[in-house]
Amino acid sequence: MTKEKIGIVVIIVILLVGIGIAEYWKKSDNEKPYGVTISIVDNTTRIISWSSAKLEVQPYIEWVSSAEYDSWNANNVISTTASVKEYINSNDEIYYRYSVQLDSLGENMSYTYRVGGEDKKLRSDNAIFNIYNADQEQFSFIHVTDSQGETENDFKVWGQTLEKAISTLPEAQFIVHSGDMTEDPNVEQQWKWFFQFSKSLMGRPFMPTIGNHEQLNEEASSYHTHFTMPLNGANKLIEETSYYFEYSNMLYISMNTEGDIDEQTNWLEQVLEKHPQKWIVVSMHRGVYGGSRFNEADDWVQLFDKYGVQLVLQGHNHEYSRSYPLIDGEAVDGQSNTITEGTVYVTMNASGTKFNEKKKDKKYQAVHFQNELQMFGTVTVSATELIYNAYDINGDLLDSFTIEQ
Ligand SMILES: [Fe+2]
Repeated sequence: MTKEKIGIVVIIVILLVGIGIAEYWKKSDNEKPYGVTISIVDNTTRIISWSSAKLEVQPYIEWVSSAEYDSWNANNVISTTASVKEYINSNDEIYYRYSVQLDSLGENMSYTYRVGGEDKKLRSDNAIFNIYNADQEQFSFIHVTDSQGETENDFKVWGQTLEKAISTLPEAQFIVHSGDMTEDPNVEQQWKWFFQFSKSLMGRPFMPTIGNHEQLNEEASSYHTHFTMPLNGANKLIEETSYYFEYSNMLYISMNTEGDIDEQTNWLEQVLEKHPQKWIVVSMHRGVYGGSRFNEADDWVQLFDKYGVQLVLQGHNHEYSRSYPLIDGEAVDGQSNTITEGTVYVTMNASGTKFNEKKKDKKYQAVHFQNELQMFGTVTVSATELIYNAYDINGDLLDSFTIEQ
């Protein structure tokens, strides 16, 4: 063999090895757990959930009290097996959702955890989450909506909004999202970017409300691939697309505007009847009183009025709107930012890059604008008041109101 031929053979071998290594890492990257999220079931119960394209034989979470964490090899590490469900998106791609419910966690505790399987290369990063005292005097959470990205840059912006929210309110105990997380739920890359740029979700519960970009044509498999929510929703709806949880002195209810409205009306009344709490907050994607009116849900409004729901968090309009406190659609207090009666409906502006043209002002709106800046809300709840602050991504406070009890 001539030197030239040997040279060509060597180059081909190097190329093949290179392609092999690249394919291995690509496969390994696709098989690594991603989208690790935490859901609240109640004050001391959490669900840890993650996604992967790999069917893991022995999926598990390793977890330990952070104060006692030494190494993953230590005897005090608890290993809990995860359950797995297979979902096929509309592109016929198979993804697996792994989830573990951790019950009776200790109050005032921090836990360190990671998830994965037998293959050491396919484990998540370490993260820490906290459990608070159910009788805490005050707690806070973050409200975002409509990240709805398509490109990597769109999701970078979503990540920046979330990080600004967390740096504005570092004591926030969880994050709620009023729907439309990605543009196309069946493009898995969008979900990967969504989570890639919101790594802090590994350390705080994330409670999404389903939007029209998650549930399409009576189908929500991509939502299920990425989230595991409490199994206490309305009958005949796609499971986990409506749910509630109690947290300290608050009842939080997530409605599904993309599902059967009447089924949820009955369920909503039962939930409100059985779980009287000082504070009741509802999240729904299409706003019943936002820039536009989703009046198909007017039966829900009757129940919000009857049971004294104080705050309804909304999305979908990609602009900012805050109603006067309303009873049956009529303002009960037209002036004050201190509210003692009625329900306030907030439509938060987008946390991503898409903004809509400002809609016409409505008589029920106390505040209404389109600033074309990503926004987030902070909600602080105590025994006597609930404070809602709306900020833009620069940290400027653009709206604030207090509901007193
Ligand atoms: Fe929407």
